[in-house]
Amino acid sequence: MSWSTLPLTAAIALLAAMPSLASAQPDNVQRVRDWAASCSACHGPAGRAPANSPVPGLAGRPQADLVAQMQAFKAGTRPATVMHQIAKGYTDEQIAAIAAWFAAVK
Ligand code: HEC
Repeated sequence: MSWSTLPLTAAIALLAAMPSLASAQPDNVQRVRDWAASCSACHGPAGRAPANSPVPGLAGRPQADLVAQMQAFKAGTRPATVMHQIAKGYTDEQIAAIAAWFAAVK
């Protein structure tokens, strides 16, 4: 390795260490869409709940709000019928990526 390649190597190492950036890479988009699809079974297509649905919609809601709710379910601080179990099935990185996906739905 020469000195001139060092900054690039450092930039790649930095990118790899950032899950939020890494999950925004195109090759992960399909994976995140698959995770989001499992939520859509209850929350409606692309997180758009049908009118009068007892399950709240997720589409277009701020990512931070969705993450906060998911973390509260996961930690058990927000009581739930099903979401506490579902939330435990995802890592923090997955929750952030799924929340970003739903937040981006127009
Ligand atoms: C089996 C049906 C089901 C699935 C699958 C499901 N949810 Fe839920 N979700 C619910 C129900 C029902 C509630 C209301 C809280 C409760 O009783 O668990 C809820 C509540 C929520 C809330 C809180 C919304 C609010 O307005 O307070 C969020 C955020 C959420 N779900 C995200 C997700 C995500 C993300 C996924 C996929 C990883 C998912 N849900 C999968 C049924 C489901």
